[in-house]
Amino acid sequence: MTMLAPSILSADFANLQRDVELVLNAGADWLHVDVMDGHFVPNISIGVPVVKSLRKATDGFLDVHLMISQPEKYLDAFRAAGADLLNIHYEAEGDKPALLRHIRESGAKSAVTIKPMTPPEAVFDLLPLCDMVLVMSVEPGFGGQLFMSESLPKLRALKQEIRRRGLSCLLEIDGGINEETAPLAAAAGADVLVAGSAVFHAADVSAAVALLKSV
Ligand code: DX5
Ligand code: ZN
Repeated sequence: MTMLAPSILSADFANLQRDVELVLNAGADWLHVDVMDGHFVPNISIGVPVVKSLRKATDGFLDVHLMISQPEKYLDAFRAAGADLLNIHYEAEGDKPALLRHIRESGAKSAVTIKPMTPPEAVFDLLPLCDMVLVMSVEPGFGGQLFMSESLPKLRALKQEIRRRGLSCLLEIDGGINEETAPLAAAAGADVLVAGSAVFHAADVSAAVALLKSV
Protein backbone atom coordinates (compact mmCIF):
# COMPACT_ATOMS: atom_id res chain seq x y z
CA MET A 1 0.00 0.00 0.00
CA THR A 2 1.18 3.49 -0.81
CA MET A 3 2.25 5.60 2.15
CA LEU A 4 1.31 9.24 2.64
CA ALA A 5 3.65 11.91 4.01
CA PRO A 6 1.82 15.23 4.45
CA SER A 7 4.20 18.17 3.96
CA ILE A 8 3.92 20.52 6.92
CA LEU A 9 5.05 23.37 4.65
CA SER A 10 1.34 23.95 4.00
CA ALA A 11 0.29 23.54 7.66
CA ASP A 12 -0.48 26.39 10.04
CA PHE A 13 2.86 26.94 11.82
CA ALA A 14 1.11 28.68 14.71
CA ASN A 15 -0.91 25.48 15.22
CA LEU A 16 1.63 22.91 14.14
CA GLN A 17 0.94 20.38 16.88
CA ARG A 18 -2.79 20.51 16.14
CA ASP A 19 -2.21 20.04 12.39
CA VAL A 20 0.29 17.22 12.88
CA GLU A 21 -2.02 15.33 15.24
CA LEU A 22 -4.88 15.82 12.82
CA VAL A 23 -3.10 14.19 9.87
CA LEU A 24 -1.56 11.37 11.93
CA ASN A 25 -4.92 10.55 13.52
CA ALA A 26 -6.45 10.50 10.04
CA GLY A 27 -3.95 7.81 8.94
CA ALA A 28 -0.95 9.68 7.55
CA ASP A 29 2.17 7.48 7.68
CA TRP A 30 4.97 10.05 7.95
CA LEU A 31 5.45 13.79 8.38
CA HIS A 32 7.39 15.46 5.57
CA VAL A 33 9.48 18.40 6.79
CA ASP A 34 10.70 20.84 4.11
CA VAL A 35 13.90 22.63 5.10
CA MET A 36 14.92 25.49 2.77
CA ASP A 37 17.96 27.74 3.08
CA GLY A 38 17.16 30.55 0.64
CA HIS A 39 20.25 29.52 -1.37
CA PHE A 40 19.69 26.03 -2.77
CA VAL A 41 16.09 27.11 -3.40
CA PRO A 42 14.69 30.66 -3.61
CA ASN A 43 12.72 30.36 -0.36
CA ILE A 44 13.34 30.04 3.38
CA SER A 45 11.20 27.75 5.51
CA ILE A 46 12.10 26.02 8.76
CA GLY A 47 15.13 24.52 10.45
CA VAL A 48 16.53 22.55 13.37
CA PRO A 49 14.48 24.17 16.20
CA VAL A 50 11.20 23.24 14.53
CA VAL A 51 12.30 19.61 14.09
CA LYS A 52 13.27 19.59 17.77
CA SER A 53 9.85 20.90 18.81
CA LEU A 54 8.08 18.45 16.51
CA ARG A 55 10.07 15.59 18.06
CA LYS A 56 8.73 16.56 21.49
CA ALA A 57 5.19 16.90 20.18
CA THR A 58 4.87 13.64 18.24
CA ASP A 59 6.15 10.09 17.81
CA GLY A 60 5.41 10.37 14.07
CA PHE A 61 8.19 9.49 11.60
CA LEU A 62 9.98 12.70 10.57
CA ASP A 63 10.99 12.64 6.90
CA VAL A 64 13.30 15.65 6.62
CA HIS A 65 13.81 16.98 3.08
CA LEU A 66 16.91 19.15 3.07
CA MET A 67 16.72 21.73 0.29
CA ILE A 68 20.00 23.24 1.40
CA SER A 69 23.32 23.79 -0.40
CA GLN A 70 25.61 22.37 2.29
CA PRO A 71 23.89 19.41 3.97
CA GLU A 72 27.15 18.19 5.53
CA LYS A 73 27.10 21.17 7.90
CA TYR A 74 23.67 20.36 9.32
CA LEU A 75 23.11 16.58 9.17
CA ASP A 76 24.21 15.96 12.77
CA ALA A 77 22.09 18.81 14.12
CA PHE A 78 18.95 17.57 12.35
CA ARG A 79 19.61 14.02 13.52
CA ALA A 80 20.14 15.19 17.11
CA ALA A 81 16.91 17.19 16.86
CA GLY A 82 15.05 13.98 16.06
CA ALA A 83 14.92 13.47 12.29
CA ASP A 84 14.13 9.83 11.42
CA LEU A 85 15.09 10.17 7.77
CA LEU A 86 17.54 12.66 6.26
CA ASN A 87 17.12 13.44 2.63
CA ILE A 88 19.87 15.28 0.74
CA HIS A 89 19.69 16.63 -2.80
CA TYR A 90 21.86 15.09 -5.51
CA GLU A 91 22.41 18.66 -6.77
CA ALA A 92 23.65 19.96 -3.41
CA GLU A 93 27.35 20.30 -2.49
CA GLY A 94 29.40 17.52 -0.95
CA ASP A 95 30.43 13.89 -1.41
CA LYS A 96 27.06 12.13 -1.73
CA PRO A 97 28.24 8.56 -0.96
CA ALA A 98 30.05 9.80 2.18
CA LEU A 99 27.04 11.86 3.28
CA LEU A 100 24.62 8.97 2.78
CA ARG A 101 26.92 6.64 4.75
CA HIS A 102 27.17 9.26 7.48
CA ILE A 103 23.37 9.48 7.69
CA ARG A 104 23.06 5.72 8.09
CA GLU A 105 25.83 5.63 10.69
CA SER A 106 23.88 8.22 12.68
CA GLY A 107 21.01 5.74 12.89
CA ALA A 108 18.70 7.65 10.54
CA LYS A 109 17.30 6.41 7.23
CA SER A 110 19.12 7.85 4.21
CA ALA A 111 17.65 9.36 1.06
CA VAL A 112 18.72 11.29 -2.00
CA THR A 113 16.48 13.61 -4.02
CA ILE A 114 16.59 14.53 -7.69
CA LYS A 115 15.22 17.79 -9.11
CA PRO A 116 13.07 17.74 -12.29
CA MET A 117 16.04 18.32 -14.63
CA THR A 118 18.21 15.56 -13.12
CA PRO A 119 17.94 12.17 -14.89
CA PRO A 120 17.24 9.08 -12.77
CA GLU A 121 20.48 7.43 -13.94
CA ALA A 122 22.41 10.09 -12.00
CA VAL A 123 21.61 8.30 -8.73
CA PHE A 124 21.80 4.65 -9.87
CA ASP A 125 25.24 4.23 -8.27
CA LEU A 126 23.93 5.65 -4.98
CA LEU A 127 21.01 3.22 -4.67
CA PRO A 128 22.78 0.73 -2.34
CA LEU A 129 23.43 3.61 0.08
CA CYS A 130 19.84 4.86 0.05
CA ASP A 131 16.79 3.75 2.01
CA MET A 132 14.77 5.99 -0.30
CA VAL A 133 15.02 8.09 -3.46
CA LEU A 134 12.81 11.16 -3.81
CA VAL A 135 11.78 12.27 -7.30
CA MET A 136 10.70 15.93 -7.35
CA SER A 137 7.63 16.52 -9.50
CA VAL A 138 7.94 20.31 -9.20
CA GLU A 139 10.95 22.62 -8.98
CA PRO A 140 11.68 22.61 -5.24
CA GLY A 141 11.02 25.74 -3.24
CA PHE A 142 7.28 26.23 -2.99
CA GLY A 143 4.11 24.32 -2.25
CA GLY A 144 1.06 24.50 -4.47
CA GLN A 145 2.72 24.05 -7.88
CA LEU A 146 1.48 21.93 -10.77
CA PHE A 147 2.58 18.29 -11.06
CA MET A 148 5.17 17.65 -13.79
CA SER A 149 4.28 14.39 -15.54
CA GLU A 150 7.92 14.07 -16.70
CA SER A 151 8.50 12.63 -13.23
CA LEU A 152 6.53 9.46 -14.06
CA PRO A 153 9.06 7.82 -16.43
CA LYS A 154 11.76 8.72 -13.89
CA LEU A 155 9.89 6.77 -11.21
CA ARG A 156 9.51 3.83 -13.58
CA ALA A 157 13.22 3.82 -14.47
CA LEU A 158 14.24 3.93 -10.80
CA LYS A 159 11.76 1.20 -9.84
CA GLN A 160 13.12 -1.04 -12.59
CA GLU A 161 16.73 -0.51 -11.50
CA ILE A 162 15.88 -1.08 -7.80
CA ARG A 163 14.14 -4.36 -8.72
CA ARG A 164 16.91 -5.43 -11.11
CA ARG A 165 19.45 -5.08 -8.31
CA GLY A 166 17.20 -6.67 -5.70
CA LEU A 167 17.36 -3.59 -3.45
CA SER A 168 14.72 -2.50 -0.94
CA CYS A 169 15.04 1.24 -1.55
CA LEU A 170 11.70 3.10 -1.41
CA LEU A 171 10.58 5.66 -3.99
CA GLU A 172 8.96 8.93 -2.93
CA ILE A 173 7.36 11.64 -5.04
CA ASP A 174 6.97 15.28 -3.99
CA GLY A 175 5.14 18.17 -5.62
CA GLY A 176 1.66 18.65 -7.02
CA ILE A 177 0.28 15.42 -5.58
CA ASN A 178 -3.51 15.46 -5.33
CA GLU A 179 -6.49 13.22 -6.01
CA GLU A 180 -5.76 13.17 -9.77
CA THR A 181 -1.98 12.79 -9.76
CA ALA A 182 -1.60 10.42 -6.77
CA PRO A 183 -2.87 7.35 -8.70
CA LEU A 184 -0.49 8.13 -11.60
CA ALA A 185 2.50 8.35 -9.26
CA ALA A 186 1.52 5.16 -7.41
CA ALA A 187 1.09 3.29 -10.69
CA ALA A 188 4.55 4.46 -11.82
CA GLY A 189 6.13 2.98 -8.70
CA ALA A 190 5.95 5.60 -5.92
CA ASP A 191 5.86 4.01 -2.45
CA VAL A 192 5.51 7.28 -0.55
CA LEU A 193 3.41 10.25 -1.68
CA VAL A 194 4.21 13.71 -0.29
CA ALA A 195 1.29 16.12 -0.33
CA GLY A 196 1.18 19.61 1.13
CA SER A 197 -1.58 21.82 -0.19
CA ALA A 198 -3.86 18.89 -1.16
CA VAL A 199 -3.89 17.91 2.53
CA PHE A 200 -3.63 21.09 4.59
CA HIS A 201 -5.57 23.43 2.31
CA ALA A 202 -8.46 20.97 1.97
CA ALA A 203 -11.77 21.95 3.56
CA ASP A 204 -11.69 18.63 5.43
CA VAL A 205 -8.08 17.69 6.21
CA SER A 206 -8.92 14.23 7.60
CA ALA A 207 -10.98 13.37 4.53
CA ALA A 208 -8.13 14.52 2.27
CA VAL A 209 -5.72 12.19 4.09
CA ALA A 210 -8.15 9.28 3.78
CA LEU A 211 -8.69 9.99 0.08
CA LEU A 212 -4.95 10.12 -0.73
CA LYS A 213 -4.33 7.04 1.41
CA SER A 214 -6.92 5.09 -0.56
CA VAL A 215 -4.80 5.30 -3.73
C1 DX5 B 1 8.46 21.76 -2.49
C2 DX5 B 1 8.44 20.85 -1.28
C3 DX5 B 1 7.19 20.07 -1.18
C4 DX5 B 1 5.93 20.88 -1.06
C5 DX5 B 1 4.82 20.10 -1.75
O1 DX5 B 1 9.72 22.29 -2.62
O2 DX5 B 1 9.52 19.95 -1.31
O3 DX5 B 1 7.27 19.09 -0.15
O4 DX5 B 1 5.54 21.12 0.26
O5 DX5 B 1 3.70 20.90 -1.78
P1 DX5 B 1 2.47 20.55 -2.72
O6 DX5 B 1 1.99 19.19 -2.31
O7 DX5 B 1 1.49 21.64 -2.40
O8 DX5 B 1 2.94 20.58 -4.13
ZN1 ZN C 1 9.52 18.24 0.13
